[in-house]
Amino acid sequence: MHRILSKEILAPDVARLWLDAPVVARKRRPGQFVIIRLSEDGERIPLTIADADPARGAIALIVQGVGKSTFALNAMNPGDDLLDVAGPLGLPTKIEPNARVCCIGGGIGTAVVYPIACGVKALGGHVVAVVGARTRDLMILEKELRAVADETIVTTDDGTYGAHGLVTDALKKLLAEGHTFDEVVAVGPLPMMRAVCEVTRPLGLRTIVSLNPIMIDGTGMCGGCRVTVGGEQKFVCVDGPEFDGHQVDFAELSARLKAYREQEAIALARYRQMSAQGA
Ligand SMILES: Cc1cc2nc3c(=O)[nH]c(=O)nc-3n(C[C@H](O)[C@H](O)[C@H](O)COP(=O)(O)OP(=O)(O)OC[C@H]3O[C@@H](n4cnc5c(N)ncnc54)[C@H](O)[C@@H]3O)c2cc1C
Ligand code: FES
Repeated sequence: MHRILSKEILAPDVARLWLDAPVVARKRRPGQFVIIRLSEDGERIPLTIADADPARGAIALIVQGVGKSTFALNAMNPGDDLLDVAGPLGLPTKIEPNARVCCIGGGIGTAVVYPIACGVKALGGHVVAVVGARTRDLMILEKELRAVADETIVTTDDGTYGAHGLVTDALKKLLAEGHTFDEVVAVGPLPMMRAVCEVTRPLGLRTIVSLNPIMIDGTGMCGGCRVTVGGEQKFVCVDGPEFDGHQVDFAELSARLKAYREQEAIALARYRQMSAQGA
């Protein structure tokens, strides 16, 4: 059992949960994730380790409610227990000492980018962070990124906060102004990661993306998280989650993510009905 120690609402349907998980807190490195189960009959949910406090034996997860399991998790409260937390899983981010990195987070992807930015700074690097959201209320972790990055730019699609436009507009502006980077790390919705890759591809600027396919076992055995990268099959849970974005087959990943839409909608409708009945 893993107790929820605290809970904070960061944006509508987005919560930060600190969990009791001493072994994971001690071992995790930037870029890694856990797979949790809420209960015996619950599905397995992969979530990035957004932060860790080894002294307290706790890890932070930042969760966006998008379906039955993530809404159920965000409905839990301090003092409640999760059945299990498996991890740390996946390969840690490869971070070169003293690198100049542009860290781009879109929406909930900012929760994945934040520990990577901390890792780059810990190795003496220079971080320019670009944080994007559809609208002001959905912006997360701006304060945390400003505290760690050398420069932070915020953008909203609707212009309600920061620069009006997409994260790709901010990246193009930085490049036009003469900023140079050893690499770009982009994490967010698939169309965003794909768009960032199309900005950097002609420049030959190395671009790392963190992929979020459907996962089941998290051990490389079931094939659920299969993606094609550079024409080769990879399993995100053991070969990733980070890959060279210029090599990723985004169209295939997008199609695979839609495979269970109907079942997911039914599960969410049932969950909402049962919650309304107080079950
Ligand atoms: C390595 C990894 C790290 C992740 N880290 C985080 C994180 O830190 N915070 C967080 O909130 N989420 C994260 N996710 C995504 C999260 O695991 C899914 O949102 C969750 O499993 C959905 O479960 P559900 O039952 O709530 O929704 P479901 O009923 O399974 O899905 C509902 C809808 O959500 C969308 N969806 C489902 N799975 C994904 C997915 N993997 N990526 C994008 N959209 C999806 C689809 O549109 C789907 O129709 C991560 C995924 C992976 C693979
Ligand atoms: S989740 Fe089963 S192979 Fe990756």
